[in-house]
Parts: sequence; C-alpha cells; structure tokens
Amino acid sequence: MPVRTILLLCFAPFAIGALQGCGGDDGGSSSSGETSGGALGECPPDSDAQAQAGYQALQDQCATCHSTTKTGAARIGAPEDVNVDDPASVTAEAGEIYSEIQIGGANGADGMPLGAKLPDDTIESIRIYLACDATQ
Ligand code: HEC
Repeated sequence: MPVRTILLLCFAPFAIGALQGCGGDDGGSSSSGETSGGALGECPPDSDAQAQAGYQALQDQCATCHSTTKTGAARIGAPEDVNVDDPASVTAEAGEIYSEIQIGGANGADGMPLGAKLPDDTIESIRIYLACDATQ
C-alpha cells in the first residue's frame, strides 16, 4: 500500500500544474536548444551584459593558470588545451568548464578554480557566456 502513497506524491505536482514530478530531472538538462557541452542549457534573451560578465570572470578567475600566455611551470599544472583566452579552447571545453565550476575547488573538492568555489551568480554568468557566445 505504500505504492499508492508514493504514486500520489509523484503525480500530485502535475495535478497542480507543476512541471516536475518525482526526481530524475534537474530542469537544466533538456536536450533541446543546445549547441554543445550537454548541460549548458538555454541562452536567455537580452543577456549580453551577463555573458560579458561571465567572459570577464573567466579571465579574472582562471587565466592565472589557463592562459595561452602561460607555459611550463607558470601553468601550475593546468592542462595545455584549456585556455580561457582562446575562443576555440573555450568552445571545445565549454561543458567541462561549466561542470568544473559547478563542483568548485573549495574544501578539497575536485573542481575549479583550485581551492575555491565561485559565487552562484558568477557561475550563472559564466554559464550564460558559454551557452550564448562561446558555443555559437
Ligand atoms: C591556480 C591555478 C588554476 C586556476 C586559477 C584554475 N585552474 Fe583549472 N586547472 C588547474 C590544474 C592544475 C588542472 C589539472 C588538475 C585538475 O584537473 O584538477 C586544471 C584543470 C582544469 C580543467 C580540466 C579538467 C579535466 O578534468 O579535464 C578545466 C576545464 C579547468 N581547469 C577549468 C578552470 C576554470 C573554468 C577556472 C576558473 C574558474 C580554473 N580552471 C582555474 C589549475 C587552475
């Protein structure tokens, strides 16, 4: 009999017009409208300023290590093919960049930037830059 309860909990949101039912869908990974990167999501209309802020955040936060101007030890171990000042690299790595900054590197986490997690609004600006400019 718990099955009936679970079903009710699952489908009640549909009855009141919500778009999400039971788990499984984070709402951000629909397969429509994407150009690359898998989970970048939509490019919102009129988001030029935010995309520009996202571009700038990548230069400010990542170019210390991920820049075409850095070689050898100055890269602090950053892979040679991930450079935020190289549009082709950003396009190729867009999905990876977004997933790394969502994880972040705070408290020993295995994301980027090393040792810190960017604020949510900065992460969103970078997502918009990647979804709107970098991958189109
Ligand atoms: C202090 C140097 C440093 C900074 C700053 C930095 N990175 Fe990295 N990055 C690294 C190193 C070292 C690696 C390779 C080791 C690893 O993946 O943890 C790396 C790897 C990566 C990778 C490849 C991961 C993979 O598994 O292929 C991506 C993508 C990336 N960084 C994105 C970023 C972004 C985006 C930022 C800025 C928000 C950033 N990094 C800031 C040093 C840095």
